[in-house]
Amino acid sequence: MRVVITKNYDEMSKWAAHFVAKKILDANPTAEKPFKLGCPTGSSPLGMYKELIRLNKAGVISFKNVITFNMDEYVGLPEEHPESYHSFMWNNFFNFIDIKKENVHILNGNAPDLLVECDHYEQMIEDAGGIDLFMGGIGPDGHIAFNEPGSSLTSKTRVKTLTTNTLQANCRFFDNDIRKVPKQALTVGVGTVMSAKEIIILCSGHTKARALKHAIENGVNHMWTVSMLQMHQHGNIVCDEECCCDLNVSTYQYFKDKQRIEGLVEHFADMFE
Ligand code: GLP
Repeated sequence: MRVVITKNYDEMSKWAAHFVAKKILDANPTAEKPFKLGCPTGSSPLGMYKELIRLNKAGVISFKNVITFNMDEYVGLPEEHPESYHSFMWNNFFNFIDIKKENVHILNGNAPDLLVECDHYEQMIEDAGGIDLFMGGIGPDGHIAFNEPGSSLTSKTRVKTLTTNTLQANCRFFDNDIRKVPKQALTVGVGTVMSAKEIIILCSGHTKARALKHAIENGVNHMWTVSMLQMHQHGNIVCDEECCCDLNVSTYQYFKDKQRIEGLVEHFADMFE
């Protein structure tokens, strides 16, 4: 696993955006051979999306031949609701880049048959040839997408009931009223994320410190679903200093040494200036 420790949220966002941009550029995607990108919502990826928009507007990268698959969506929340993940993605990313509407895939949490919707989504990913790069955030309880503690580590796209922890964390988007937060979501599985060729997880701030510790230092455990990243050959975590406060000093030092020797932060931070 590669762990990159950046100074703060802004540096983390920039690093992640440049990493993603480089992957797309290197793949040199065409209409016949598009780049398949897995997309998260949440506050963690917002800064990264802003920088990707800047790079797109500056002509550094194009999303014309990029196909996206979002991680998750609430069940029963109208698509046009300001807090639906459909709204989030269009309002914070897709409306500002040159992506084709038909290349955007987001689960339909209002589908008449949710199981059919989930199977169909999984099939679409497979038909597209799998995800090249899955980007993700992390919940305070270590969930990726909406794979709550106790999720199968080989799970595929399905309906998940959200934990009280997650309802509490997300009620800030629903007038701080936990009763307004949808109780269920459709989500790609841990196995779906793990099937991607490469994964990058963004982890920022004090509230994610425990989750980061479990992701890196403790064993693979379905109570901290992000820990499954340990089993991936190309798993990356990019985090900020604040988020490292629960790591062992030796763990922290090792990843700092490693990134200094490999020039990781400098390399990506200044790539597209
Ligand atoms: C939700 C999303 C996750 C996201 C998490 C953290 O639960 N389903 O994909 O990683 O929130 O969000 P934030 O980045 O806002 O802390």
